[in-house]
Amino acid sequence: MNAEHEELVRAACAQRARSYSPYSHFGVGAALRGASGRMYLGTNVENASFGLSICAERSAVASAVSQGEQEFLAIAICADGPTPTAPCGACRQVLLEFGIELPVILAGEHGLDGEIFELTVGELLPHAFFDFTAQLRDAEPGKDRS
Ligand code: THU
Repeated sequence: MNAEHEELVRAACAQRARSYSPYSHFGVGAALRGASGRMYLGTNVENASFGLSICAERSAVASAVSQGEQEFLAIAICADGPTPTAPCGACRQVLLEFGIELPVILAGEHGLDGEIFELTVGELLPHAFFDFTAQLRDAEPGKDRS
């Protein structure tokens, strides 16, 4: 693993300590590197209405975009547990929006001292939905959809 990815793993694992997860008690931290060089952190934020909980990855993306960054170099995700946890389907879809080749580095609670997986968003989400206009391009305007 290169030094840049190592730094992201360290930041994601430190960020995990900020998790708000009183229901699952499963802490997750994410560190997203923008093309500008800036790093954006995210953690999971749960809610008594469970479905409103947000994952660490999407929280990092929302932070980055809110601060004006839309191009990313890599994301590290560090979750509780001795081995790395893969991102949920919703987070894969959200990450894919910003690049099918985006490297995703996965770590468990032992961080760099434990097992690490490195793969791309495209590998995590094959045959993805990303261009809803593709099927519409050749359609006639105003075509009856019934
Ligand atoms: N979680 C994440 O933060 N990222 C994922 O990709 C998987 C799940 C969080 C959501 C919830 O707060 C807890 O882990 C248990 O599902």
